[in-house]
Amino acid sequence: MADKKARLTVDGLEEVIELPVYSGTEGPDVIDVRPLTSSGLFTYDPGFVSTAACESKITYIDGANGILLHGGYPIEQLAEHSDYLEVCYLLLNGELPTPEQKETFINTIKNHTMVHEQMRNFFNGFRRDAHPMAIMVGVVGALSAFYHDSLDINDAHHREVCAYRLIAKMPTIAAMCYKYSIGQPFMYPKNGLDYAENFLQMMFGNPCEEYVANPIIAKAMDRIFLLHADHEQNASTSTVRLAGSSGANPFACISSGIAALWGPAHGGANEAVLTMLEEIGDESNIDEFILRAKDPDDNFRLMGFGHRVYRNFDPRAKVMKQTCDEVLAELNISDPLLKIAKRLEQIALEDEYFVKRKLYPNVDFYSGIILKAIGIPTNMFTVIFALSRTIGWISHWSEFHSSPNKIGRPRQLYTGSKKRDYPTK
Ligand code: CMC
Repeated sequence: MADKKARLTVDGLEEVIELPVYSGTEGPDVIDVRPLTSSGLFTYDPGFVSTAACESKITYIDGANGILLHGGYPIEQLAEHSDYLEVCYLLLNGELPTPEQKETFINTIKNHTMVHEQMRNFFNGFRRDAHPMAIMVGVVGALSAFYHDSLDINDAHHREVCAYRLIAKMPTIAAMCYKYSIGQPFMYPKNGLDYAENFLQMMFGNPCEEYVANPIIAKAMDRIFLLHADHEQNASTSTVRLAGSSGANPFACISSGIAALWGPAHGGANEAVLTMLEEIGDESNIDEFILRAKDPDDNFRLMGFGHRVYRNFDPRAKVMKQTCDEVLAELNISDPLLKIAKRLEQIALEDEYFVKRKLYPNVDFYSGIILKAIGIPTNMFTVIFALSRTIGWISHWSEFHSSPNKIGRPRQLYTGSKKRDYPTK
């Protein structure tokens, strides 16, 4: 696999260290630094800015050119021609399904949409005003207490069943989190509906009336799921892989991914965008917030701007922006927050500070606005991201366990006290 070599000389070391260099199917070459340990050296890369932690075939991102591929297919094409469950199949299997495979896959997912009836009791332990992400972390972790029959991580069939269960049950659990917070009865899944319609009926339906989802909104919901489905080795996916590397059960691993996603620098950004727009309140206050974002002594950042990997437009944001316009037109909404968002976007795209640092609007900038228009409360935004990203997490977890692997165990640059004796007087 290594067709090239890198040679490293280190002051004080006589030997020249030879390191294999690998080429992937796309993207930059990768230097294999594993031989360094035999010379007593480690690499140092806080934030994993220059480190590939694994080999993967699932998703590719070219941040400089704004490209995102799942199984080789560009995200824009998947958003236009495919749907969320088909992308789930693609991420799990590496290939698009045939029509028969797709039908079988959808029917299998439908067989798993209900959660164990006893899981309802878990919700009663939470305060009504609990953040739904707090409930989600707990309830998803608790799935491991209910589905013992598929927990052998070395069995490919068990891994597959876990993936089906998670894809199917996440919308049910997400909607239960919402219903619990507003004091309404939980809605059972309806398997006659498609994935997004079913989620919307569990969120907005009630047992007293028939709920029929607006097709434009159901399509937008499916697109939000699809655009968030996977994003290679981001913080939460890396967390799931690392947790999985110890042999922990899949539900516990996904729960760790949900926890990592929650932070405002990651999935929590969609909620933070809305909070920020509300805080700005009026177009006349934008300049003040821009100044704060540029001030190195102020921790404030423009939420929904910037990305570790994309140094060009986030391709998901382009599709999301278009969906945002469709939804707002369909619902005939003229949201003052949207005006602030549009102005903010325009200023940031022209301002030297943002241009120089290549800080473009990311996917979360627009998804928050769509979710708000659909009527989803702000504190559910990151839950919806978690629901959508579950397929990415479980696909990476499964890929990790499908080949020989090692527990993840980073090293450190130690800068604490040297060895010293405990004071005895
Ligand atoms: N507003 C103002 N300045 C920013 C922002 C921002 N949103 N993002 C980065 N910068 C500045 C930063 O201060 C630094 O400036 P300088 O070079 O003068 O010190 C420079 O840009 C580089 O930033 P960084 O912190 O080194 O970049 P990073 O790759 O470590 O961080 C990020 C990436 C996404 C965490 C960051 O851009 C950010 O905090 N954005 C806001 C939160 C957000 O929208 N997150 C969602 C990401 S997309 C969805 C997902 O993947 O979950």
